[in-house]
Amino acid sequence: MSRAPQRPDPPALAGPELFDPEAYARDGYPLATWARLRREDPVHWYEGLPELPFWALTRRAEIVEVARDPARFSSEKRFHIVAGGDYGDDPRETRTIVQMDPPKHRDRRGLLSARFTPRALRGLEADVEAITDRMFGALAANGATGECDFVEAVAAPLALAVIAHLIDLPANDGPRLFRWTNEMAGATDPQYRQAGESPTETRLRATAEVFAYFSEIVARRRREPGEDLVSILAQARPDGVPLPDHELLSYCLLLIGGGNETTRNAMSGGLLALLEHPEQWRRLRAEPGLAASAGEECLRWTTPVIHNARTAVADCELGGRTIRAGETVALFWPSANRDEAVFDAPDQFRIDRSPNPHLAFGIGEHICLGAHLARMEIRSALRALATRLAFVEQTGPVERLQSSSVGGVKRLPIRYRLA
Ligand code: HEM
Repeated sequence: MSRAPQRPDPPALAGPELFDPEAYARDGYPLATWARLRREDPVHWYEGLPELPFWALTRRAEIVEVARDPARFSSEKRFHIVAGGDYGDDPRETRTIVQMDPPKHRDRRGLLSARFTPRALRGLEADVEAITDRMFGALAANGATGECDFVEAVAAPLALAVIAHLIDLPANDGPRLFRWTNEMAGATDPQYRQAGESPTETRLRATAEVFAYFSEIVARRRREPGEDLVSILAQARPDGVPLPDHELLSYCLLLIGGGNETTRNAMSGGLLALLEHPEQWRRLRAEPGLAASAGEECLRWTTPVIHNARTAVADCELGGRTIRAGETVALFWPSANRDEAVFDAPDQFRIDRSPNPHLAFGIGEHICLGAHLARMEIRSALRALATRLAFVEQTGPVERLQSSSVGGVKRLPIRYRLA
């Protein structure tokens, strides 16, 4: 689809760095490009992805406007844009709540939302602490000092163990779940693709494997329901009948996928930010009570979901531009979180930042269902870092995920001394 430029001579405000997965792996987030777009063209028609040109939204104001208006901007057709492998009409694609519009979206989200309120999660806090304790305990197994990849040793298993606990999955399924979530969220990263596969084939293969895995679990929970999330979904009769299998399995997949990669990256990206700002690390160690506000700043700073997408339902105006029905808009959450109109000194990492109205969890209709759970995990990990490590330093470069959907840290090598 091509479109007449809305300005006579639009300058090249954004290049491949805005959407090229390789650029994200090599250079990290395109902060300078986002800042320029916020300043000069916050609703920017981007043609750098020829198969799917889209509107790039970079200011918090327009991003909030779109995310809060599902009647004008639908999630159904496309909830994010996949470079080189868009979601199609393939019946093997997922059908999750993040891809639904109201009223169905509210109805389906309502099946689990009561389990994710801060109050409902309070009972889980001790379990999350115990899981964190186990991860940090493993660091102590080889003595008071050591080296590890923080992603592999702490961030990934912690996020996985918490969601597996909520779904009551066997502990030794962790490695399989780890592989599947990597393949689904990191399908554009060659490391996670099998020989000859395209990103779409990788994603669909992993999706089919996750569906087969959960089919067995659902069958068991139908026979012997427990208190876990899959049991709730397996018993649900939202329209007077059980959830269709494909929808139920998609819901399970979203819990596993949504709850893993993102939380893992907020933790590893958060530690990286602390290592890059030693005065903030010292402050956290001196005041572990700051873990909650430090967690919010790590979320703002890392913003692990790079973008989500919406489709305009009808022609409309947005930030002085005309969006036509059927066009795609991309909401760049990390850019909203550096918006100088909202945040004081947005390029400073301050663990006591207040207020901190970041959009790492999105906003509006689809605001992250697991936000309070993720906060609890990140808080717990930061408290453990601050109180259990006397010293920590990075021993090599980070490896980043090749993706323009999830900002991932694949490897963060560290050396540490326990307190
Ligand atoms: C740091 C961690 C996390 C981040 C940054 C994050 C980010 C997000 C974002 C940005 C959205 C909104 C998508 C949109 O507007 O289109 C979302 C939705 C969602 N997230 Fe998370 N998430 C995190 C952790 C979790 C966890 C732990 C779960 C576990 C259950 C989870 C489950 C979901 C679900 C089910 C949705 C869909 C909600 C809906 O469509 O109503 N997330 N998340």
